[in-house]
Parts: sequence; structure tokens; C-alpha cells
Amino acid sequence: MCGIVGIVGRESVADALVEALRRLEYRGYDSAGIATLDHGRLDRRRAEGKLSNLQRKLAEAPLPGDIGIGHTRWATHGRPNETNAHPHATERLAVVHNGIIENFRELKAELVAAGARFESETDTEVVAQLVSHLMGQGLGPVAAVEAALPRLHGAFALAFLFAGEEDFLIGARHGAPLAIGYGQGETYLGSDALALAPFTDEITYLEEGDWAILTRDGAEIRDITGAAVRRPRQRIATQAYRVDKGNHRHFMAKEIHEQPEVVGRTLAHYIDMARGQVVLQEALPFDFARLSRLSITACGTAYYAGLVAKYWFETLARLPVEIDVASETRYREPPLERDGLTLVISQSGETADTLASLRYAKSQGQHTLAVVNVPTSTIARESSAVMPTFAGPEIGVASTKAFSCQLTVLLCLALAAGRARGVLDAEHERAIVDALITAPGLMAEAIKMEAEVEGLSREIAKARDVLYLGRGTSYPMALEGALKLKEISYIHAEGYAAGELKHGPIALIDESVPVIVIAPHDAIFEKTVSNMQEVAARGGRIILVGDARGAAAGLDTLATLTMPDVDPVIAPIVYAVPIQLIAYHTAVFMGKDVDQPRNLAKSVTVE
Ligand code: F6R
Repeated sequence: MCGIVGIVGRESVADALVEALRRLEYRGYDSAGIATLDHGRLDRRRAEGKLSNLQRKLAEAPLPGDIGIGHTRWATHGRPNETNAHPHATERLAVVHNGIIENFRELKAELVAAGARFESETDTEVVAQLVSHLMGQGLGPVAAVEAALPRLHGAFALAFLFAGEEDFLIGARHGAPLAIGYGQGETYLGSDALALAPFTDEITYLEEGDWAILTRDGAEIRDITGAAVRRPRQRIATQAYRVDKGNHRHFMAKEIHEQPEVVGRTLAHYIDMARGQVVLQEALPFDFARLSRLSITACGTAYYAGLVAKYWFETLARLPVEIDVASETRYREPPLERDGLTLVISQSGETADTLASLRYAKSQGQHTLAVVNVPTSTIARESSAVMPTFAGPEIGVASTKAFSCQLTVLLCLALAAGRARGVLDAEHERAIVDALITAPGLMAEAIKMEAEVEGLSREIAKARDVLYLGRGTSYPMALEGALKLKEISYIHAEGYAAGELKHGPIALIDESVPVIVIAPHDAIFEKTVSNMQEVAARGGRIILVGDARGAAAGLDTLATLTMPDVDPVIAPIVYAVPIQLIAYHTAVFMGKDVDQPRNLAKSVTVE
């Protein structure tokens, strides 16, 4: 949430700052801004809304200078207008910030009492004013930042630019990610490697509490105590950070279509095709056989992947699973057995609540296992073991391919657990692996139903409310379907366990509420059929997402999306496709901004 960049360059940096911000726009698009120094003079341009608005301003009034910082905002404190847009500045410095300064009210009161005049409603402006105040008391820029940092509570990544100081920038990391990139006579700062990929493939990730002085020759990094430290430089594969839409209209469409390929890539990492077995490349620091339960925590779509996995771990490995959303886990502080296992799931690997829950689990002596898409992320670095997903960069704010890759890894893990616990014999494992290998092909077939889904979406777009129903693993898929639809089309949607309908939600059913039922032909299909009859009897309009046997069941439906036949165990991976396509086409038909839905951002680094 919020993306920050900085460049100490050799030539004009405004265009490069904007290019880096374009790659960070997934983190927020409420406003954008940059500040540069031109012959030592600090100047900035800021604009409400998307980066394109800032680009228009820069075209009218260019910003010269070979050193600068930039920001793309997801508003936390203060409305998304130009006054609240970053960089925030005084006559001495400009600052950009990702995160929340929790004690900003106290600091603001103190600074106002000392004569500071605030312009914005943001928490960030206290950082600019505090450092400026310390400089007014005689401290140089470096000493002022060093003195200010311990006074800031909360989670943040910051970049500072100082009037008259053309040779350096300062960056600081405390609870939000920050990377340094090294170029030829240029040095860069960015919220992630994706932002820096156009400029360099040599990156250092700052660690918690680190701050750094960036010059054209490199960076001097200090830890929380102020001691100089060395942090490893890593080479990143810049092609892996290509961000374009290919032939698609939206990133979300491209990412939905990429799923057969990325799920295949993920499977290739976890499956020995010849032996028909799951192979975990990394040695696990715990033994599944000795676990009495598994705790899973995550947010949003990643949480729903965990909810599907609960069914898999419990049925395939007879391992009891406790699962909660990370914003609850972290404050609920559940009792966790020493040497037990907490599994966290995250696309970005930076989600604040998931990270806090991970740290809580570690503090209880638990082993931690992370299923993450960004292998260099904080969650990946802080977990005792990592199971990467191979979805590649996901730019659309609504998670699609990361979700199906998470499911793929989680099913492989459940199989490994089942084998280790003596629940699955080789034959059973091979049968599921054989089914799993068919998932990419089945997903490709599901994608071919796109035109049909598009037609159906026109009906769904008329609705004010939509219900999603499912049983077993299709229940979390119903929750995910509802989330996907509401976040990009803004239609109110809710997911329910089909059997729960008669305990209240059935009161909502009438002809105006489409009911999307996710029902592959599995062992409990007939139970779901009974629930569909109940809906039909009350005039509800059912859209069945099922297979040929479901279609042949003679149900009174508005429409049936007939999916290819799928082994029920892998059904969630394949059924992710129609669920995503329904949301995507409904939102596109309604003219919504599917890649950047209102009020949302990716990589939620604030709680
Ligand atoms: C929904 C969506 C979010 C994320 C959630 C967790 O489409 O993308 O619900 O799943 O914010 O994010 P990560 O996986 O990065 O921890």
C-alpha cells in the first residue's frame, strides 16, 4: 500500500520516477507525486487520482533535476486530494512514505506548539515537519533523520530528499519493505524490485530498522542502532519483472489466461511426474507426522485458499486445521503449541496482518511455513520454510493466478502431509497427482468458455445482490467468487455454505437475486441439488457452475456453465477460472476499472 521510489541519477530523473511509479501503481492510485532538486532547489508536482493525471501535469510543467523521490498513494489518513498527496515538504526537505505513523497526533501537537504549520491531513507530514524542526535546531540532514526515526511509531518505509543536497537521498525501513538498486553511477530506492527492474538487476533488501544514505556511488546502510552494516546484494531476473498486458485489455484478463501456464510451472516444481509423487524441494524443519494440528492464517483471497486447504489437510492427511483471518489471529493471540506449525499464505509476502501473525506464531515457538509468490518478501524471509508459488508478478489488484497457484502448492503440501502421516498410500497419492497434472489442461478448457461467461455476465450486471453457494471445498470457492465480484463490479455479493441457506439467507431469495451455485459432481452433489431446489421453489434464478452430470440433473436454472469433468479433489483449482471470468466480464460490461478498483490496493502493508 503506497509505493515509494527515489533516484540519485546522472541525468533528469522525472521520467524514470514516473516509470517506477507506474510499476508501483498496484499499491495505490489515490494520488501520485514526485519531488526533485534543480540546482539545489526543491520542487514538486502532485496530482489527485491516477498516475496519468500526474503525467499530464508534468507535461505542462516539467520538473528538471537529476535527483528525486516519488509516491503513489493509497489513502489512510486524509482524503485522496492533491493537498494530501506526497511528497510532503517543508522548505528544507521532501518526504514520501508508505505505512502509518501511529503517534502522529502527539507529534503533530508537539510540532504545532513549536511553531510548525501543517498543510495536509496526513500522518506523513509530521515526518517532514519533525525532521525539518530538528534541522532547524542545527542538526544536519543525516543526524536529523537519525534522531527522528526512533520517535516514529508504526510501520513505515520513507525516502527523504533535502534542499541543497544534490548528492544523496535517505531511505528508512521499519515494518514496510524497501529495496536499494545499484546502477552505473546511479542508485535507486523502491518499495520493491518490480519498481527498479527497468534500471537495474542488482538489489539489496533493507532489513527491519535499517536506514541508508544513497549516493551515486552506492549506499551506506545502518541498522537500528546506527551501526554501519552490510546487507547482501542479489541479482534479480529482470525479465521476470516484465509488466505488460500482452494482447489483453486488462492485466486481470492476462493473469486469468496465464493460469494454465503458471499452475503448470508450479506443479513442475512440486511434482515428480515420473514417480507420480509430490517432492518438496526444501527440507522442512518439522515432521508432519508429529503435528497434532495445523494453524493457517492469511487475508482475503489467500485466506480462502487456506480455507480450501483445510478440507485437503483434514481429509487427505487427517490433520486438524484451525484457520483464521490474520487481522483476527494477531490480536486474538491463540494458544499455539511449541514446535507446532503455522502456515501463512500471501501473494505479496508483505501483508501487515499476515506478517504480524507469523511473528506471533514464532514468538510462541512454532515452526512457520509460508506459501508466497514473492520469494524475496518479508514473510518469505522471516518464515522457517518457504513454499514458493510460481505465478509471476500479479499486477491486477484482484488476485487470480496467485490464488490458483496457492491452491496448487497447498494441495501438494496436503499430499506430502498425508504421506508423512501414513494416511495416503502410494497408490492414492499417485491417483491424486495424476489428476493434478491434468489441472492446467482443464483450466485451458475452462477458459474456452469465456464467450459464454461474457453473455451471462450481462444478466449478472443487472443485479443489486448476488449469492454464491457451495459445499465442501466449493464453499470457500463461493466465498472467493463473491469477493471477486464485489471488489471489481461493486455489486453486493455473499458466499454461503449451501446447507446454511435455510438458516437465514434464504430470506433474501427472489427473482432479482442471481444465485451462483458452484457444484462439481462430487460426493455431496445431491445435497447441493436439494439446496438448489429450495432456491428454485422460491423463484430464485440459479446459475449452475457444474459439469455435464450436473447439467443433466434437470434443474430449473437460468443458465448452466458446463465445466469439463474434473476429479473433485482438484476441482477448486479448475473452478477458479469461471469464478474469475464471471467477476471480470461483469465488471467490464459495467464499465468498471477492473485492474484498479476503487478504494483498493495490492500489498496491504497497513493493518
Ligand atoms: C482479493 C485480493 C486480496 C488479497 C489480500 C491478501 O482479490 O487480492 O484479498 O488476497 O489482500 O494479500 P496477500 O496475498 O498479498 O497477502
